[in-house]
Amino acid sequence: MKALYLKERKQPVVYADFDDPQAKEGEVIVEVKAAALNHRDVYITQDLYPGITTPMILGSDGVGTLDGKEVILNPGEGWKDNPAYAPLNYTILGLPKFGTFAEKIAINADRVHEKPAHLSWQEAAALPLAGVTAYRALFTRGQINANKKVLITGIGGGVALTALQLAVAVGSEVWVTSGSNEKIEKAMALGAKGGANYKEDNWHKDLAGRAGVFDLVIDSAGGDGFAQLLKVCNFGANIVTYGGTRGKVNGLSPQIIFWKQLNIMGSTMGNDQEFADLLAFVAEKKVKPVIDAVFSLEEGAKAFERMDQGLQFGKIVLDVNI
Ligand SMILES: NC(=O)c1ccc[n+]([C@@H]2O[C@H](COP(=O)([O-])OP(=O)(O)OC[C@H]3O[C@@H](n4cnc5c(N)ncnc54)[C@H](OP(=O)(O)O)[C@@H]3O)[C@@H](O)[C@H]2O)c1
Repeated sequence: MKALYLKERKQPVVYADFDDPQAKEGEVIVEVKAAALNHRDVYITQDLYPGITTPMILGSDGVGTLDGKEVILNPGEGWKDNPAYAPLNYTILGLPKFGTFAEKIAINADRVHEKPAHLSWQEAAALPLAGVTAYRALFTRGQINANKKVLITGIGGGVALTALQLAVAVGSEVWVTSGSNEKIEKAMALGAKGGANYKEDNWHKDLAGRAGVFDLVIDSAGGDGFAQLLKVCNFGANIVTYGGTRGKVNGLSPQIIFWKQLNIMGSTMGNDQEFADLLAFVAEKKVKPVIDAVFSLEEGAKAFERMDQGLQFGKIVLDVNI
């Protein structure tokens, strides 16, 4: 089969022939139709991820066919239903197990779900990892409801954009931040009430002036901007972090945290129940993931470049059939 894989560490991915997967006990072989990138895949090519081995077929998001049925794959494995956190043996598809950037994948049969019928192959491929991360961050951790005012930072991110769509489907008032005014406008077209550009001085004051304070903040940037998020929070607000794109947080004020009685919490991926709940929610509300660009598997290295440059608005998809 053909695959897009990491041949050597700290090198771009290569498109080449690869041995067909063999199903071990409990596994099935899914014919992949489409896959999608996550920042994780880029970090792995840059050697910024623990436990990298080569050769490694990357890719956590995938859809395809199994015995003629249209299926979507749960990228997480080993986290059944503990609502608090994943067990230590929890793994994500595409390292350490071979992932979805290939024509075929061997995967545990219980990772295979029916594809939501309202989604195309490309749309469905864009859902799993970003969707389950956004779902747990918003619902399980963030306790979102229609009365909460929500701020989602860095809306160009795949998880952030999915979170926007889910939160809008809940009926919440949602605001966003971005380093691009154009992305804020695109987010507003998807139902965001407004936004602020985090590259501008005093963006948080400007935002609070227009939006008021937030009951729920979803962030994956961390870094120096994180401390400003406390200032736009309502009393008792939940701040959920699932990423650290901008590195360590400086200047966090304990006074704001204790005075406003804020809850700062971490969130990672989601358990099997949350994945099933995500699929049901998306099907009920007819949510369709936003696709930024589609590349063939052969042109996959260009998809990695696009994500690394941060140019995307929505998910970058690899279509195996083009
Ligand atoms: N814990 C988990 O389960 C989990 C799951 C998925 C991802 N993650 C992590 O979450 C992060 C985002 O992942 P992704 O796949 O969604 O990546 P992505 O699509 O590449 O998104 C990164 C986004 O970060 C935003 N950003 C950059 N600097 C920022 C700043 N100073 N303030 C606010 N936003 C900023 C940018 O938004 P604009 O373009 O709008 O400026 C950019 O589009 C990564 O660090 C990833 O490792 C964690």
